[in-house]
Amino acid sequence: MVEKHKFLVYRNSGNGKSHYDKFEFPVSKGMSILDALFYIQDYFDSTLAFRYACRGAICGSCGMTIDKVPLLACRTQVSTVKTSKKPAKLPEFKFSDHPEWDPETEILIEPLPNMSVLKDLVVDMEPFWKFYREIEPYFARKWNDVAPESLQSTGQMKTIERLVYCILCGLCWACPVSKENPNYLGPAQLAKADRFIRDSRISDDRQESILSRVLQDDAVPACEKFFVCNRVCPKRVMPGTAIKDIRNNWINE
Ligand code: SF4
Ligand code: FES
Repeated sequence: MVEKHKFLVYRNSGNGKSHYDKFEFPVSKGMSILDALFYIQDYFDSTLAFRYACRGAICGSCGMTIDKVPLLACRTQVSTVKTSKKPAKLPEFKFSDHPEWDPETEILIEPLPNMSVLKDLVVDMEPFWKFYREIEPYFARKWNDVAPESLQSTGQMKTIERLVYCILCGLCWACPVSKENPNYLGPAQLAKADRFIRDSRISDDRQESILSRVLQDDAVPACEKFFVCNRVCPKRVMPGTAIKDIRNNWINE
């Protein structure tokens, strides 16, 4: 027998008013939350808005809050939402009142926290990208098209490997500092900065330029060491650890 599941989905038409819609439908084996949203679009309400692209936990588009945990919808199975272990000590993410939510039987689907909602589950990522651009996450080298174009040893690569895995999903903006301080550079941005600062191929000028941004008051010094970012990151980038490393390596405390 195909099991039915109940969903409570945040809705917002973008005019500041929000409410929650309930849906109940049969869930096939292996169905992800993203599949469930497609099902809702196909069978109940074609206006439901959400982002996705790869469906394979790579593009970083489908971040949302599921049962109060920031997750990738494409990597979260409906059947395991209630049984999977939740990250410890998450802040309370509140979007609007939903007094009717039954956490035992209903899967609650809401947008990413600490970002403004454009429509339903689609948030405005522009502040995220603005801060991302500010750390200038790229090399600026004279082009060399004679092989080898760039050399990096395996050992040198290992020092940045974890940081390279970031898919810019924005889940780590669940950080309480991002909530309180709209000027906080952000965990993903600081992890990306650490990735470039550490890169053996970076020039002294570029390293200095990135450091001058991340050492400003609203960047590394603003981190309050909650480590929520480490706990919600789907790629184990550990931005909080990256921030700690920048602090240890570049700030004399
Ligand atoms: S650090 Fe992790 S949670 Fe933050 S944007 Fe990158 S992959 Fe997503
Ligand atoms: S759809 Fe690309 S990460 Fe989920």
